[in-house]
Amino acid sequence: MRVAILTGASSGMGFAVAQRMAREGYVLVVGSRDPSLAVKQLQAMGAKVVGVAGDLAEAATAEALVREAERLGRVDALLLNHGGPPVKPVLEVTEEEWRRYFELMVLGPLRLLRLCVPLFRRSGGGRVVAITSFTVKSPYPGIVLSNSLRAALVNALKTAALELGPEGILVNAVAPGYIFTERIAEWNRAHAEREGVSPEEVARRTTEGIPLRRYGRPEEVAEVIAFLLSERNGYITGQQILVDGGLVVAG
Ligand SMILES: NC(=O)c1ccc[n+]([C@@H]2O[C@H](COP(=O)([O-])OP(=O)(O)OC[C@H]3O[C@@H](n4cnc5c(N)ncnc54)[C@H](OP(=O)(O)O)[C@@H]3O)[C@@H](O)[C@H]2O)c1
Repeated sequence: MRVAILTGASSGMGFAVAQRMAREGYVLVVGSRDPSLAVKQLQAMGAKVVGVAGDLAEAATAEALVREAERLGRVDALLLNHGGPPVKPVLEVTEEEWRRYFELMVLGPLRLLRLCVPLFRRSGGGRVVAITSFTVKSPYPGIVLSNSLRAALVNALKTAALELGPEGILVNAVAPGYIFTERIAEWNRAHAEREGVSPEEVARRTTEGIPLRRYGRPEEVAEVIAFLLSERNGYITGQQILVDGGLVVAG
């Protein structure tokens, strides 16, 4: 039996990873503030899954996720994911927001990693992946919280990869480009309303800047993450892999 703890796994890319890993036979511990619907959907696929409700910024959430894995006897894979921070220019982010999103996007994932390491050691190794963003490589105006806090996490994870590599714990990040999830659909609808154009026009303008000329699909990101989280990944660690249709290379 192999066990994966997957946070931010009730929708979008995280849920696609959960579906992919359920098909590979992993027992899943699925976290989000409300994972109940996702748990039902995964069970309907025949997956063995436990849901843990809680905010990743809070220590109690990480402790509850690890407790479930301990009950199952082991952990082999860890996905670090959550929703995106608010869209705000650098001068408008309050100190309270900096603290709140540091706790969610840096401290929360690192705390969970730390709590998982003793279980990885018992299993003789482990695989960790964080979902970040292409904007870590190519910062975008208006999203300073994402640009900077994800960069902090990526460098902390690279450090962890160097320190934990000798124990067979492989740590990577996957940076998505524009991936069509419900969040992007909402974003397009909001922009369309503001600009007096159709959501399709907003989508067209975005995708014309992507070399592959389309949004990515959550399953395409999940495929890469599931590989990195599995023992099929034997020799990739300390990397941030872009799944962005060529966006950053072209920029
Ligand atoms: N989609 C894109 O094009 C794109 C591009 C670059 C980067 N990203 C980033 O990649 C990540 C995943 O994106 P997505 O589009 O798949 O997002 P999504 O569909 O909004 O999924 C986010 C997941 O995180 C959970 N979550 C949100 N806040 C949380 C919190 N405080 N604590 C614990 N869980 C929390 C959500 O469930 P609950 O609501 O139940 O908590 C959900 O399961 C996000 O950080 C996003 O900013 C996305």
